[in-house]
Amino acid sequence: MTRELSIEEQDAAARVDAARLKQEIARADPQTLRLLFTEARTHNGWRDRPVSDGMLHALYDLMKWAPTSMNAQPGRFVFVRSAEAKEKLRPTLSPGNVDKTMAAPVTVIIGQDVEFWRHLDTVFPVMDDPAGGFRDNAAGSEMFAFRNGTLEGAYLILAARALGLDTGPMSGFDNAKVDAAFFAGTTIRSNFLVNLGYADETRIFRRLPRLAFDEVAEIV
Ligand SMILES: Cc1cc2nc3c(=O)[nH]c(=O)nc-3n(C[C@H](O)[C@H](O)[C@H](O)COP(=O)(O)O)c2cc1C
Repeated sequence: MTRELSIEEQDAAARVDAARLKQEIARADPQTLRLLFTEARTHNGWRDRPVSDGMLHALYDLMKWAPTSMNAQPGRFVFVRSAEAKEKLRPTLSPGNVDKTMAAPVTVIIGQDVEFWRHLDTVFPVMDDPAGGFRDNAAGSEMFAFRNGTLEGAYLILAARALGLDTGPMSGFDNAKVDAAFFAGTTIRSNFLVNLGYADETRIFRRLPRLAFDEVAEIV
């Protein structure tokens, strides 16, 4: 028989685990940095290779560990894969995004639930009434959901790269049309789209320049 650990014992175990991680892995290896960042590209062309349910679950089960404010996880994800669902997406897309989106094995609609706070008792049970500041605060809830849902979309891109998938994020579409087609009657709002699959590298363009540290950052 094992008994449940007390809160104090869970905290102590978490500290041991966190210290052990950094002893065992000081930093990501150079190959991983190439795959996730320095040589990873945004893709426009897709090979005819499907993405399985198992892969989509693996993707979520990886990205879900990245942080959000109050652990609130307002991001919501619709994996558009069937031909029928793709046709629902088609009329919402900017002309330049149609062909590549229809060709992608999966297009993820990254959205956020503006009533994310309904889950806070479960996901942030470290304070009394964690939803209190949001329940009657639509503007604050929307900003919070957008900020953290956007982060989760970025985590999805990096998690996909880590699993060997390729991605093509897009904001060229009509959010109101996507909301009407996929989120009618819900409190979920669309943010951006991510094409997902295995890339046809013949369709990418040259790498564009990144701003230098001194142009965007300062150390104060
Ligand atoms: C949120 C977001 C929205 C984007 N929207 C579009 C889009 O609507 N259409 C498109 O062709 N590319 C879109 N892009 C692709 C960017 O132009 C591309 O990621 C950027 O130029 C960097 O390319 P690289 O990763 O190959 O270096 C978008 C990227 C992001 C992150």
